[in-house]
Amino acid sequence: ENADALNVMIAGAPASGKGTQCELIKAKYGLVHISAGDLLRAEIATGTANGKQAKEFMEKGQLVPDEIVVNMVKERLLQADAQEKGWLLDGYPRSYSQSMALENLGIRPDIFILLDVPDELLVERVVGRRLDPVTGKIYHLKYSPPENEEIASRLTQRFDDTEEKVKLRLQTHYQNIESLVSIYEDVIVHVKGDTTVEDVFGEIDKLLSSSLTKKTEMVASS
Ligand code: AP5
Repeated sequence: ENADALNVMIAGAPASGKGTQCELIKAKYGLVHISAGDLLRAEIATGTANGKQAKEFMEKGQLVPDEIVVNMVKERLLQADAQEKGWLLDGYPRSYSQSMALENLGIRPDIFILLDVPDELLVERVVGRRLDPVTGKIYHLKYSPPENEEIASRLTQRFDDTEEKVKLRLQTHYQNIESLVSIYEDVIVHVKGDTTVEDVFGEIDKLLSSSLTKKTEMVASS
């Protein structure tokens, strides 16, 4: 592990802005972005047995079983690039057992960012979300509209982005978040996620740069 690289976890309700902020964090800090949801959607897209099983749970807004998720994320996390550049774990761990799987490997974040967004904003964010299959970029019809007609015409929607499903996903989130909050108590920071994308990033940027300074100083003095 590279002591000059940051290790970051980001959590928050569905559509709280994790993926959007991760794009910005990755661009500025060069961390390796590992999104549990994206890894699962890639399994679904390639049609693996794990993907088929995962989809059944994702459609119900429930957590995919640990047998599938824990090793999938662990393998990605232990690859050389993530160890050298630092990692940005998005949507993982999401339960007590997942965090324990990491603790048992001695894997802890320098900082755990929890995005706070009021429930009433989440439904609107989910139903307006669109994805660019070519660039992977996240859009919103109202808040982050596509730059041109060409992009607009190819945007897609996620199968679990309906009002009904986001309510189930939100329940799952609230059932699990408290256990994570207690495990990462010493490194957790709450960030208000209901301002503009730029303002949210401004907050996160301040936190990450001070966290990085602290880490580098600690390494230099040891
Ligand atoms: P996952 O893909 O992680 O979905 P999620 O947690 O529900 O989060 P989202 O990706 O929906 O939202 P986000 O917070 O990234 O928001 P975004 O930036 O896109 O997981 C999907 C499923 O996979 C789970 O339900 C579960 O079944 C399974 N799974 C995943 N991880 C698992 C795990 N660890 N264990 C077991 N199962 C797991 O933003 C949303 C929208 O809002 C966008 O349109 C965006 O443009 C807009 N927006 C963002 N920020 C702002 C802002 N500040 N102002 C206005 N609009 C904004």
